[in-house]
Amino acid sequence: MAFRTLDDVDVKSKRVLLRVDLNVPVTDGKVTDATRIERVKPTINELSRKGAKVILLAHFGRPKGKVVAEFSLKQIVPTVEKVLGKTVGFAEDCIGEKAKAAVDAMKDGDVVLLENTRFHEGEEKNDPAFVKALAENGDIYVNDAFSAAHRAHASTEGLAHLLPAYAGRSMQMELEALEKGLGHPAHPVVAIVGGAKVSTKIDLLNNLIEKVDALIIGGGMANTFLAAEGLSVGKSLCEHDLGETARAIMTKAKTENCSIILPVDAIVAESFEANSPNHRYGIDSIPADGMILDIGENSVERINAAIDDAATIVWNGPLGAFELHPFDAGTVAVAKRVAARTKQKKLVSIAGGGDTVSALHHAGVASDFTYISTAGGAFLEWMEGKPLPGILALEK
Ligand code: 3PG
Repeated sequence: MAFRTLDDVDVKSKRVLLRVDLNVPVTDGKVTDATRIERVKPTINELSRKGAKVILLAHFGRPKGKVVAEFSLKQIVPTVEKVLGKTVGFAEDCIGEKAKAAVDAMKDGDVVLLENTRFHEGEEKNDPAFVKALAENGDIYVNDAFSAAHRAHASTEGLAHLLPAYAGRSMQMELEALEKGLGHPAHPVVAIVGGAKVSTKIDLLNNLIEKVDALIIGGGMANTFLAAEGLSVGKSLCEHDLGETARAIMTKAKTENCSIILPVDAIVAESFEANSPNHRYGIDSIPADGMILDIGENSVERINAAIDDAATIVWNGPLGAFELHPFDAGTVAVAKRVAARTKQKKLVSIAGGGDTVSALHHAGVASDFTYISTAGGAFLEWMEGKPLPGILALEK
């Protein structure tokens, strides 16, 4: 896929509608993680430096077409100003008189944030009249919100058809990284998929099997596969009704020449609690009243051997209950190995999804990965091989 980027346009004195993702975590009116804002800083600064009028469009939460004070983007402004190191104006609506007045008052290089696009029903419906109302305040459209690109909304998709459209720098980086991950990766490619449930990741597993050389399955999901192979998983989290699905995935993997790597041992605890008494068991001797909360050291060794053979790693989902000490050990050990191989330039490593990113931060290695996506749903849909409407609309 080819995209127009900021290298292809003169933005001087132009009104640039820049779609960013400011859907950041907020507690008591304070932003608790500004990563998404930091990611779009290069695009905002570049546009401003080149003399554009930078008009930020974003959604926040799911107010479902109504004005809901709790979801106002106004509360994000101080953090955006802090990250950018400059004043950011704010308009109390993203269309109509209020938006127009704010945009008309802008000088070249100014940055203004417009209120939550999802305060209007037309946003999620991608209503042409709403798209037109948004477009009235812009000469060009730049999309820098990969993490919202799985939504065919007015500000993520519709605008790209009405105004000359470009990918922002963060979008460009994300697309280039993902291309290296599954688009045209260096082989062998190994995917690590963890998390609680198979049911939320069936499409993802089926797509990965066609593309990767080995698929490592961990977390609660692995229990469903182990049970499908006739092993007892005790009281562990397990979707017993998905045995058939798990077996079909394993059969398909054989046809596609993709090896599936499942745990060979596990850390089994009495209860789902931090520091719950625990023991390591071979995977064929899990006690009936035990709960698998992490992979064991033999599994880590097996996974690390696969990592050492890999040229590309794509990772989504932790391998155990990483939020509960000491059941973070397996995920941390594997994360450290991926990080070390990446630092030695032996590996391209790409990870995404909320829990995965938290786990990698917890392991202290997030900055050593080749690329960490801040996207949740969009990253999953990309891993599922689904076309993302916001990206398709940007294609040249
Ligand atoms: C996200 O947080 O993953 C994106 O901003 C998309 O948000 P949504 O799931 O509410 O569309």
